[in-house]
Amino acid sequence: MHQGLRAAADKHGIELDLRTVVDERMDVEDASAGSVITTLVLCTVTDPRAVLGEVHRVLRTGGCYAFLEHVVAPERTLTRRVQKAVAKPWTWAFEGCSCERDLAPLITRPASPTSTCSARCCGRPSSPPTLRSRA
Ligand SMILES: C[S@@+](CC[C@H](N)C(=O)[O-])C[C@H]1O[C@@H](n2cnc3c(N)ncnc32)[C@H](O)[C@@H]1O
Repeated sequence: MHQGLRAAADKHGIELDLRTVVDERMDVEDASAGSVITTLVLCTVTDPRAVLGEVHRVLRTGGCYAFLEHVVAPERTLTRRVQKAVAKPWTWAFEGCSCERDLAPLITRPASPTSTCSARCCGRPSSPPTLRSRA
């Protein structure tokens, strides 16, 4: 994956600073990032609340958090029944990923009285609901 990132950065003349960190403790200064992006990460980390705390810590005022995360389906739907049935093997097969996390309330909780958050739940009935937007 890093090879692809390096190649894309080279192609577009972008200076890349790649760091291997755990998201619960990002090696990034407070209020220093213009944007933070996560794709399919909050389903796997041990503590999504701590990761979102880090996202808010490193973002500068007016910064943007963009995300694409799959989430738990509403109760009494076919997708939810399937999620319950496959939850354990899913975790074993996908590096500790959970298909049952209710991330919307965590992500959309405003970081401060002046911040705004919005998230949109997308997905076909046959696929896991996916939360994508900017906060
Ligand atoms: C489903 S994969 C998604 C990978 C990639 N973000 C993508 O969209 O294709 C989940 C990734 O989260 C990583 N991960 C798990 N726990 C983590 C943590 N505490 N901090 C950072 N990354 C973590 C795993 O190593 C794995 O690569």
